[in-house]
Amino acid sequence: PVEERSERSVSFRSGVASMESVPYNREQSKLFEHFSKSRADNEKICVEWSDLHYSILTKDAAKSSFFAPVYKNKTILRSMHGKVTSGELLAIMGPTGCGKTSLLNVLAARVSNAGSKAAELTGKILVNGKPRDDETFRRISAYVLQDDRMYAHLTVHETLMYSAHFYLPNTVTDAEKEELVTNVISELGLNKTRDTIIGDEKVRGVSGGERKRANIGVQLISDPAVLFLDEPTSGLDSFQAQAVMESMKAIAQHGRMVITVIHQPRSSIFEMFDQLLLLSEGRTIYLGPASNAAAYFTSQHLPPPNYYNPADFYLDMLSPDNRSKEQELETGTRIYKLSQAWRQSCGVSVIEGDNEGENGVFAHDSPLRQASITAAAEVDMTEYTSIKPSDQKMDIYRFVRIVRLLYWRSLTGQLRLPQALIARTIVSIAFGGIIGGMYSDLSNDQRSIDQLNGFLFVIVINQGFNTVTAVLATFPREKLIVNRERAN
Ligand SMILES: Nc1ncnc2c1ncn2[C@@H]1O[C@H](COP(=O)(O)OP(=O)(O)OP(=O)(O)O)[C@@H](O)[C@H]1O
Ligand SMILES: [Mg+2]
Repeated sequence: PVEERSERSVSFRSGVASMESVPYNREQSKLFEHFSKSRADNEKICVEWSDLHYSILTKDAAKSSFFAPVYKNKTILRSMHGKVTSGELLAIMGPTGCGKTSLLNVLAARVSNAGSKAAELTGKILVNGKPRDDETFRRISAYVLQDDRMYAHLTVHETLMYSAHFYLPNTVTDAEKEELVTNVISELGLNKTRDTIIGDEKVRGVSGGERKRANIGVQLISDPAVLFLDEPTSGLDSFQAQAVMESMKAIAQHGRMVITVIHQPRSSIFEMFDQLLLLSEGRTIYLGPASNAAAYFTSQHLPPPNYYNPADFYLDMLSPDNRSKEQELETGTRIYKLSQAWRQSCGVSVIEGDNEGENGVFAHDSPLRQASITAAAEVDMTEYTSIKPSDQKMDIYRFVRIVRLLYWRSLTGQLRLPQALIARTIVSIAFGGIIGGMYSDLSNDQRSIDQLNGFLFVIVINQGFNTVTAVLATFPREKLIVNRERAN
């Protein structure tokens, strides 16, 4: 079946050359002037990963009972090798559920391999040739999640302004922060909704696409050296998707590293990718310059048809089709062959079976090995800790400023979405009425003093519990946002 497909498409031979001939061009916006100022040219980063395996322990629902849970090991990523340097835009593509988000989490140091029973991560991740220090790496990187969480009651402008206050060092003045936020807003095309609240399921705010862009803006503000994005364009129309990806491309061209999972990129977006990583069922199918992918697939007897979005073609080739037994077998075989072919082409020894690649190592003279050595030599091997301004440290001034900001943020939340506040006020008044009625006949005799004790006890307990329950309700709501803020 693989041959059949390639014969059919052989007549539409691919246009590799035409892809390279469209140079990427974009006028410099003010935002990027700011970014260029903030980074020295020699602060380059090279992230390299080899022999990455990632598996999780999940409960086997079919076999386990309430008292005797049965766990099974699920491998999500197998034997991954690769490398990206600053200045590159790496796109990760693959069918749904193939492990793109998991890979992004692993690369962004958002999963831990230390002491966790539930997940196991093995392999090496090097930053500038040295083992990665997760804490430092998280500080110089930013991560735009697949599902975005923001404070519903803040406007787009306020959300970005808070982000600026939290992430930027004390040396940046308020006027500079305001200017940066204005530039980010216009860069992301959010001028129209600058003063609209974000909103959530209950309160209508900005549209889904605008939310998405605001979420990217929040991360952009910190001017990260490495930017991770999980499907930044899904939910956007193709024009907006193009605009967002142009911004990402420009950020990469200004010396940052941009790693993005992307869904259905239009062909003009595909042309922006420097590096392309194709995944299927946790295996690498291709990693290299996006413009060489067509030639690689042609060499695997799967030439992309002409006048066809290459991204669509690759996804067709990588998606398992489970609609019937025959199709499942056909697509499964194709994917397996492609992954084996890739492993052979980069010199990883192929070991059959499910444990394949556990001992997979780079052959010493393999092209990929050589390429990674040269690239690592090109970048400055200085500590990448220098990349973040060092005055981010918490001193008393910053502490007071942050407490004030957090206070204002929750106060505006109470005032702008006042339903909970109103409800609590009504309950308090009603409760006051009841308690007041019960103890209204207190006088100054001995019996009343005993009752007064009880009265004070009720008041204190009531006040305490009222406050605690009001605060408790905010934990589940804000947990994800706070986690994200702390992660960066
Ligand atoms: N914590 C977890 N518990 C159970 N299964 C998990 C967990 N994390 C990931 N998986 C499984 O690993 C596989 C890969 O998940 P992942 O989220 O990386 O996919 P994806 O490629 O990002 O998919 P999508 O395109 O739909 O976002 C899926 O089959 C998913 O069910
Ligand atoms: Mg995902």
